[in-house]
Order: sequence, then C-alpha cells, then structure tokens
Amino acid sequence: MAVAPTRPKKSPRRQKLEAAINYPLDWLEERSGLVGGVRYFLFRKVPSDSNWFHTLGSATLTAFLVQAVTGVILAMYYKPDPNSAYQSINHITNDLTLGWLVRGMHKWGASVFIILLFFHMARVFLFGAYKYPRELNWIVGVLLLVFGMLEGFTGYLLPWDQTAYWATVVGINLNGTGPIIGPFLADFLKGGGEIGGETLSRFYSLHMLVIPGAIFALIGLHLYLVVRLGVSSPPWSREAAGGEYTEPPSTNGRSGLTRPGPRGNG
Ligand code: HEM
Repeated sequence: MAVAPTRPKKSPRRQKLEAAINYPLDWLEERSGLVGGVRYFLFRKVPSDSNWFHTLGSATLTAFLVQAVTGVILAMYYKPDPNSAYQSINHITNDLTLGWLVRGMHKWGASVFIILLFFHMARVFLFGAYKYPRELNWIVGVLLLVFGMLEGFTGYLLPWDQTAYWATVVGINLNGTGPIIGPFLADFLKGGGEIGGETLSRFYSLHMLVIPGAIFALIGLHLYLVVRLGVSSPPWSREAAGGEYTEPPSTNGRSGLTRPGPRGNG
C-alpha cells in the first residue's frame, strides 16, 4: 500500500520563529482585520490579460509618494518668508548634505507626477475604463487632476525668485479674468492688495497642508473604488464586459443602429 508523503517536521527553532512573527500579526488581525484586508488587496484577482498600461496608476501613486517624502524633508529647512525664502532654498541646494538631490527630486518629480497623471488618464480613456460602473472613479480622478495641477501652481511660487514671482502674477491675473468667481479667487490667492508675504504664506499652507491632504484622501477613495470594482480588462479582451454578448442578427435590414441591451454589455 502506498504511503502518502508527509511534510518534514519543522524544527523547534523554526516553530519558535514562526510563532514570534505570527503573534503580533494575529494580535493586529484580531483587533482590526487589517492583515486580512492587506492580503486581499495584494492577492485579489485581476484580469489575466492586464498589461503594462495598467501599471500607470501605480506609477502615478509612486511619483506622488516621492513628492510627499521629499516635500516633508524640504519643509524642515524652507522658510516661507519673503526675506528668507530664496536664501533658504539656496541653503538647501548648496549647503545641506544631499540637499541638491532632495530638491532636484522634488522639482523634477513634480513634472514626472503630472506627466504620469496624464498618461494614466489617457490609458483609462483609450481603454474605455471610465464607463459603467467606473464613472465615479473617473470623477474622483478629475478632482485628483485639478488638485495635482493646483499643487504645481502653488509650489512654483515658493522659491521666490523672478520666474516664480512673475509666473504667479500671470497665473493669478488669468484666474481673475474668470466669470463671476474669477475676481474673488484672484483676491483669495493674493491674500491682499498685491502679491507679497501674505501670498507666499497662503501658497505655502495650500501647498504643504491643504492640497496634499485632499490628494491623500482622494487617492484613498480612488483605490477603494479600484479594489471594489476590480480593474477593467483591455478593450480587446475576451474577458471584457460584453465579450460574451452576441448581437442577434438584424431582422429589419437597418443594421448599425444601436439596440438596447443589458447594462455593461458594450
Ligand atoms: C494622483 C493621481 C492618481 C493616482 C495615484 C491613481 C491611481 C490609480 C491606480 C493605482 C489605479 C489601478 C491601476 C490602473 O488602472 O492603473 C487607477 C485606476 C483608475 N483611475 Fe486613477 N489615479 C490617479 C488619477 C486619475 C485620473 C486623473 C483619472 C481620470 C480622470 C483616473 C481614473 C481612473 C479610473 C477610471 C480607474 C479604473 C481603471 C480600470 O478599472 O481599468 N485616475 N488609478
């Protein structure tokens, strides 16, 4: 009679090690369910024909996190005051250990973030991934786009050099020409009669507190919806919604007209 192979017994040392690792995880899981949640997030099913274009959202997320980390480091040394802002940026770039790298990453990373944001949006648009049931996630994405660009606008003033100053003058004046709320928006952004110290502290507060906070919250909602709804398949996929839908042959000779069908079937 064949004997089923048995697993080699774990050594007492290994058992102790596993117990030591599992104890805090079990403790956390029992009280929060977080471990199960993370496991679900990491090992959930995605369409088998997902491709590199599906990584653009995560790439955008990574770029945003790099901005958050480098931004926190810069905020430790930056001084949002018209008399010292420019000098503090020079000090970061020239005197601090690796300051040039952190500042460079934040400055160039801003462009990388915006470019990836547009690439990700283009992928969602071209794959038709904004359609039912993902319209709400598209709307959340539009808000992310607006806040992302506001982040760039408010950050541009902070070096307080000629380029920063005049670019902001142009930006605020452009806003001022908008209908109805334009002049109020321009006044709010300026924080006074003209662009000066008040504007700088206002932009700094928006740039490092208000807008990143909103972006973090919106990303949370965005990812919740991605997990809840699942990632969509590429349009050419056999798994895509409607892939199994076969249109009945036309009986009235007027082919090409849309016919009502169940929701999500193309
Ligand atoms: C900070 C900005 C953003 C981050 C971090 C982000 C992140 C992500 C991630 C990780 C995914 C899942 C993987 C993928 O499909 O790439 C995703 C999906 C999606 N995103 Fe974004 N996204 C951002 C901005 C946007 C924008 C600007 C739009 C559109 C206006 C958008 C619309 C969508 C939609 C509709 C999906 C679902 C796609 C599908 O199921 O195939 N996102 N996003």
